[in-house]
Amino acid sequence: MALVCVEDFEEKASSQLEKSTLDYYKSGAGEQFSLKLNREAFRRLRLRPRCLRDVSQPDISCQILGQQQKWPVGIAPTAMQKMAHPDGEIGNARAAGKAGSIFILSTLSTTSLEDLAAGAPDTHKWFQLYIYKDRSLTKKLVHRAEKANFKALVLTIDAPIFGHRRSDVRNKFSLPSHLSLANFQGEQANGVVTMGGSGINEYVVNQFDPSITWKDINWLKQLTSLPIIVKGVLTAEDAVLAREFGCAGIIVSNHGARQIDTVPASIEALPEVVKAVGKDLLVMLDGGIMQGNDIFKALALGAKTVFIGRPAVYGLAYNGERGVEELLSVLRKDFEITMALIGCQKLKDIQSNMVVHESFYSKI
Ligand SMILES: Cc1cc2nc3c(=O)[nH]c(=O)nc-3n(C[C@H](O)[C@H](O)[C@H](O)COP(=O)(O)O)c2cc1C
Repeated sequence: MALVCVEDFEEKASSQLEKSTLDYYKSGAGEQFSLKLNREAFRRLRLRPRCLRDVSQPDISCQILGQQQKWPVGIAPTAMQKMAHPDGEIGNARAAGKAGSIFILSTLSTTSLEDLAAGAPDTHKWFQLYIYKDRSLTKKLVHRAEKANFKALVLTIDAPIFGHRRSDVRNKFSLPSHLSLANFQGEQANGVVTMGGSGINEYVVNQFDPSITWKDINWLKQLTSLPIIVKGVLTAEDAVLAREFGCAGIIVSNHGARQIDTVPASIEALPEVVKAVGKDLLVMLDGGIMQGNDIFKALALGAKTVFIGRPAVYGLAYNGERGVEELLSVLRKDFEITMALIGCQKLKDIQSNMVVHESFYSKI
């Protein structure tokens, strides 16, 4: 049977992956309230379509950081993609490139950033970074990313420590021994990174720096001329700080609800961020995007582009690079249909009053 929506890919992946791997990809923090909310909050928004508005010449291309993109959907950084399929990060990135999507490589990838750059040369790539206790390790990663032609650094700011994912603890989740966190391979030899069989949690506990503050953005800025995007903003206050510290953009995100539970869905947090900084800063979003109308809602509320995390992993698990290609094509088609049926030919035709909260209709 043809796979016609992201849920179909999720179902396929769920039947193919080992339990502890699936749990790792699927799970959120705590009792997973925000995980469900990330999707449900989109359902609380209603579309107000407009009719008779010539949609015969659709064009969903956009410009992000001065770069032309085919459509406003990219791939969010997710760790350890070779657990999903041997094609891993290269397969995911190649599929993104073919679809004209930005690909963000996780620092915690099972493919080194150099191999990724060589394997997906035609893809527009950003590199996701954490600031590690060992600043020279961080510095090296930044310079490697520059050299490998990544176009932006995505600094994840919502992870001073690792969130508590119950299933990972129950499953004693760790990276299978035939895979490694490829960006740190050389470091392992020097004993800087202690991976062994001890699992990702121990690795992260050892290297993540809970003392980092906004001032570290200044340190990062003097290392690189790449634009710095902060990922994990959920409040107007942090959005204003991101602007003050000279960031080039923000990804409104709750990290796929994997860090702290009962935070708002990303789409719920988006309006206050857009109100605070949307006029002069690039605002993007990830979290819970499953279909075309989710993309539309995020754009109508002020995001310039969105990213998908788990859906791409499900495509990868289902059928490697081809699976991600298929998934992106299903999502693109769905977004094109949404655009046409709501009366928008170009992204600039999207108006904020085309999306309202369900309470708008509660008097009926
Ligand atoms: C399995 C998995 C691994 C992730 N790894 C990272 C990571 O290494 N770095 C990071 O900044 N975000 C990471 N994220 C968060 C994603 O970048 C993104 O914020 C989230 O997946 C978006 O939500 P969605 O999965 O509903 O699309 C991860 C998410 C998942 C599901």
